[in-house]
Amino acid sequence: MQILSAQFHKSSAKANQCPKEDRPEYAFIGRSNVGKSSLINSLCNRKSLAKTSSTPGKTQLINHFDIDGKWFLVDLPGFGYAKVSKTIRATFGPLITDYISSRKNLMCLFVLVDSRIPMQEIDLVFMNSMVDNGVPIAIVFTKTDKLNKTEYNTNMEKYKAQLLEYWEELPPVFYTSSKNKEGTGELLNFIEELNAKW
Ligand code: GTP
Ligand code: MG
Repeated sequence: MQILSAQFHKSSAKANQCPKEDRPEYAFIGRSNVGKSSLINSLCNRKSLAKTSSTPGKTQLINHFDIDGKWFLVDLPGFGYAKVSKTIRATFGPLITDYISSRKNLMCLFVLVDSRIPMQEIDLVFMNSMVDNGVPIAIVFTKTDKLNKTEYNTNMEKYKAQLLEYWEELPPVFYTSSKNKEGTGELLNFIEELNAKW
């Protein structure tokens, strides 16, 4: 599948301000700076549809993007970045939790993790709570362009082995780079399969 048209639809400060749940949607979540907004741009073949920044904490609202008039991509604020001011940080928790627990049309929550960084406790805690609550997740490793082949293989295998200490099986896993577009085709095909189930 290829995305033909992508446009900004709406920013929401609360889950109940989000658009009607009348079509499938796919949200991107993960620690600040992991590359959520960049991956959305890469999937849409657009440079700055979703705002990116080298300073963590750029995305602070729930941002819906209309894709081909048929489904939504959703850019969520990052979590777990200490330098975000306390007041802003305090709004991340409930905003994300409300969004995830209320959206009936959320087909998959893509949890992004930086392929260069060892497993972080906050990611594990977050993923475990999603699995416990029956939220359909997929794991998306980001920034693979920054690793050489050996680091890539070592890091990915180690991460998956660690997850299997907690889980019997892995959710779908994707390996992506917004820079060289690795994995974007696979992600879009996965979304296409889920769209067909809507
Ligand atoms: P918040 O909105 O702050 O939570 O961050 P985010 O997860 O949306 O990250 P964002 O997409 O803004 O990217 C953060 C930084 O990482 C930017 O400087 C991006 O250019 C860079 N980046 C993101 N994805 C990639 C990638 O695949 N490869 C490389 N080399 N850099 C990336
Ligand atoms: Mg962002």
